[in-house]
Amino acid sequence: MVRPGLRGRGLGREVTRLVLSWAFEVLGAHRVQLEVLAGNRRAINCYLACGFRREGVRREAELYPDGWKDIVMMGVLCSEYAAQARMARRLGAGPALRSISSARPARQVPDSISDGFTAAGAASAI
Ligand SMILES: CC(C)(COP(=O)(O)OP(=O)(O)OC[C@H]1O[C@@H](n2cnc3c(N)ncnc32)[C@H](O)[C@@H]1OP(=O)(O)O)[C@@H](O)C(=O)NCCC(=O)NCCS
Repeated sequence: MVRPGLRGRGLGREVTRLVLSWAFEVLGAHRVQLEVLAGNRRAINCYLACGFRREGVRREAELYPDGWKDIVMMGVLCSEYAAQARMARRLGAGPALRSISSARPARQVPDSISDGFTAAGAASAI
């Protein structure tokens, strides 16, 4: 969570990318998934910017004081993360994740991941 006064400055994207980097490059996860309130546009935009895709909606799945809310399910696959890393490298993205990337991965992931993608958050890694 980013403090209210600091939101909208790119910190959420950066943290989410760092979490993805850790999940795919260090843990060797196959996919990372999360759930977010459908009305949370800022968070959804943040996750979309980091490579997550919408995978579905759980309609009126949670009850809040102001009523039932839809929950959006989002996920990103290791193969999609690797493709983003290739693209970022082609575009000359910054080295923000190099320190994490140098950690030994738990499982082998495509080489292309390890030196380009600048990072970002999520709920679970499989
Ligand atoms: C969700 C959260 C982590 C995102 O962090 P952040 O630092 O604000 O996000 P960023 O600045 O990196 O990116 C936000 C994205 O939303 C967009 N955005 C900013 N303000 C927005 C608004 N009021 N409405 C819609 N989109 C908005 C930004 O343009 C950016 O999209 P882009 O990458 O396409 O330009 C942060 O806002 C937060 O902690 N919110 C409260 C807790 C929360 O909602 N957690 C998520 C639970 S799933």
